[in-house]
Amino acid sequence: MKKLFTLLIAVSLVSAVATLVIAGSNAPEEVIYTPKIGTVTFNHTQHLAAGDCASCHHTGEYVSCSSCHGNQPGIANAKDAFHGSCIDCHKEAKQGPTGCRDCHVK
Ligand code: HEC
Ligand code: HEC
Ligand code: HEC
Ligand code: HEC
Repeated sequence: MKKLFTLLIAVSLVSAVATLVIAGSNAPEEVIYTPKIGTVTFNHTQHLAAGDCASCHHTGEYVSCSSCHGNQPGIANAKDAFHGSCIDCHKEAKQGPTGCRDCHVK
């Protein structure tokens, strides 16, 4: 199982890097959020190893999450979309911060 997981990571990394060249020439190195509760630093480049593009950009459109997850009825708001994506994956992967203060630094 562990072997399979490693293999999957390796495969998705290769395809991720290939896609980056084609689709993501404007992919950011790092994104910094500054909500009142505390600054969150998201290292985009480092996270390319965590899943393929679509695992986060689930619609296949490389635009800001809040362009859809704003305040549209029937679609999770930005906070829930970010928490849903970030925290759920960290819990599942048993890696990455899950505590408020591990992500939101004052
Ligand atoms: C672990 C999750 C994750 C993975 C994997 C990922 N991204 Fe992202 N990406 C994000 C987040 C989060 C943002 C910031 C979006 C925001 O703040 O609205 C972002 C931003 C971007 C942006 C800028 C969008 C904009 O206009 O604001 C591009 C382009 C992009 N990613 C392309 C890619 C490509 C291409 C891949 C695959 C090689 C990829 N991303 C993999 C999470 C991810
Ligand atoms: C083109 C529009 C669009 C973009 C861009 C988009 N989403 Fe979504 N997202 C949706 C729709 C539609 C749904 C399904 C409705 C829902 O569950 O909120 C959804 C669902 C989700 C869910 C599940 C929400 C839940 O409560 O079950 C998460 C998490 C999520 N998106 C995170 C993200 C993240 C993170 C980004 C940016 C990297 C992003 N989305 C970009 C349209 C979009
Ligand atoms: C698809 C899974 C996945 C998603 C989605 C994801 N992460 Fe992570 N994250 C990881 C993994 C795996 C690690 C640990 C591996 C590493 O440090 O490279 C990590 C590590 C981190 C770290 C610690 C980095 C360090 O240098 O110690 C931070 C901070 C972080 N993530 C923030 C975020 C934020 C903010 C989001 C949402 C915008 C997010 N992550 C979404 C998988 C994910
Ligand atoms: C994995 C990283 C991560 C963890 C853990 C996390 N958050 Fe967040 N949180 C974010 C990101 C990314 C945003 C989106 C910030 C933005 O859009 O400016 C956010 C947004 C928020 C917002 C909305 C801010 C605003 O102005 O709209 C609040 C409030 C918040 N988080 C509180 C919490 C609390 C409370 C916890 C602990 C239960 C927590 N967060 C855990 C990453 C995280």
